[in-house]
Formats: sequence, structure tokens, C-alpha cells
Amino acid sequence: MHYPLYRPKRMRASESLRRLVRETSVSVDSLIMPFFVREGKGVRTPVASVPGIFQFSVDTLVKEVRAAQSLGIPAVLLFGIPGVKDRAGSGAYAQDGIVQKAVTAIKERVRGIAVVTDVCLCEYTSHGHCGVIKKVVKSSSRQVVLDNEATLELLALTALSHAQAGADMVAPSAMADGQVRAIRAALDDNDFSGVPVMAYSAKYASAFYGPFRQAAGSAPQFGDRRSYQMDPANAREAVREAALDVQEGADIIMVKPALAYLDIIAKVKERFDLPLAAYNVSGEFAMVKAAARQGMLDEKRAALEVLAAIKRAGADIIITYFAPQIAKLLNK
Ligand code: PBG
Repeated sequence: MHYPLYRPKRMRASESLRRLVRETSVSVDSLIMPFFVREGKGVRTPVASVPGIFQFSVDTLVKEVRAAQSLGIPAVLLFGIPGVKDRAGSGAYAQDGIVQKAVTAIKERVRGIAVVTDVCLCEYTSHGHCGVIKKVVKSSSRQVVLDNEATLELLALTALSHAQAGADMVAPSAMADGQVRAIRAALDDNDFSGVPVMAYSAKYASAFYGPFRQAAGSAPQFGDRRSYQMDPANAREAVREAALDVQEGADIIMVKPALAYLDIIAKVKERFDLPLAAYNVSGEFAMVKAAARQGMLDEKRAALEVLAAIKRAGADIIITYFAPQIAKLLNK
């Protein structure tokens, strides 16, 4: 039997043929751009730790969101920096809270872009933890134990206030047990059954959130988040966490961070049929930026490669600070 010799002719194949057989492509359609919003007017404060990330006031944010919309980015994710923080994180669920005001302004003034809100308390609590503190274990590391039930109530109130302000989707990131169920119930009971929940299902206690905490001013004042965020060494636990969120009614599940957790993305993708999001977090973004600034690598190529890897691992949606830059590149 004679077979024609089919050798991969990689070197000779034209770019068109490469396109034809390409298994993964990054599209603007799958990107979500995160934004930080604070009180004030005309604010556009660069965040020292991350080149290219800013804190905006509502008026300047509206312009940024409009620009994202015109680049074809389908959604933005909002994080709020409140004027004052307190123990109960009351700025998170205030009717006139910063995120609530931002959502209303965007929905009034920008068409054709979805507004997703982060639902957590860490930016709003004076202690910087993601929920209500039950006790602090008196040891050198000051381990923090959260009051889960009390936290759920506040998270539900927060999500509801975001929906009332006009949010298209809410994204709980506190890693409180039962947060998806509590939020789903609060939304359903108040005629917001059409507002989906994107759950941060597998959220690891990661060093890669460093720059974010500077941007959002949400570093814990004592202790760390290891009692409620996952151990980076665990993979099967991520599947269990995702299964719980699916049961509780999540519409989209998420793995976070992304780059150091590509195996987790692949595992979760294989097990569940829901759309899967991955958060290309601040530290992953900052690494590429910093290396590029030092002339160590080509920023555009590195960014595209990272996003393609996250897609290839199985993410349908990528939350990334690269969104506008990549959208410009892809729109060319
Ligand atoms: C918590 C939250 C964090 C991030 C998103 N939501 C920080 C944390 O858990 O400390 C990190 C995102 C990033 O690093 O880009 N509200």
C-alpha cells in the first residue's frame, strides 16, 4: 500500500493555511475588562504598582467604558473603592455606594456593553477581609475566621443593590460558603431572576493579587486570606468548589488566577458544561508589563501568547487588563 507522504510543512505553509488549522483563537468577544472606580471627579490616578491600570471616578470611567465598547469589548467588571471603610463594609451595599453610582451612570450613558460587578467586602471593610470577622486566632500569624452566615447576608445585600442599580451580571468573589445560593435567592426574591451569577469558584490564595490590592486598597490589615481562599497546591478541591457553585445555581464558573492554574482550567472545563471564565489577574499582567519595560520580552507577543494559553486550556471568557490593548491588536 502506498501512502502519499503528508509531512507537516510548517516552514513552508502560508499564514493562511496556518489560520485554517489553528486550534485556538483569541477573540475580542471573550474578553472582560476590569475597572477600578472611586469617588471624585475627573480622577484618572495611575496605580503605582501596575503600569496601565488606573483608578477612575464615575465621569472618567464612563469615557473609558465607552472606549472599551467601541473596541468591541463585550463586558466590563467593576471594583469599587469607597470613600470610607468600616468594620461592616457598609459601602458595599449602600444605595449610593460607588459601584452602584458607576453602574447607573454607565447604563444611562453607554449602550451595548454589559456591566458586571464584583461582589465582595474586602475593598469596603476597614480590616480588608472579604467578610465579617468572627475571631482572630491569637498567634503570630493572626489567623482570621470569618462569620460565614453574617457574611452571606451582606454579600446578598450587595449583589441585590448592584442589580437594582442596573448591573447585568454579578460576580461574587468572597469565597464564603454558600455565597452563590444566598445571592441567587436574594435576586430571585426581588424580581432579578434574569441577572446571572458568575461565580469565582476556584479562587486561590495567590501572591499574584499583589498589584490589585494596591489598586483597590484592599490588602488585609492583619492575617491573610488563607482561611477562605484555596491552597495553590490543590487541584481536586477546585473541582469540588466548582461543583458546589453549579449546584447553587451559578451561570458561569471561574478559575482565578489563570496563568499558574492552566491545569485547573482544563480540569474544570472537562467536568462542567457551564461557560468557564478565567481571571488573568493583576500580577500576571504586571509581570508581562514589567519584563517588557525592561526590554526582556516583546509585550504584544507575550500578552497574546498568555491569552491563547488560557483559551487553549479551556477558558471561554478571559477577564484581563490587556483587554483594550489586545482588542486594538485584533481589530487591525
Ligand atoms: C476580591 C478580589 C481580588 C481580586 C479580584 N477580586 C483580590 C483578593 O482576593 O485579594 C484580584 C484580582 C487581580 O489580582 O487582578 N474582591
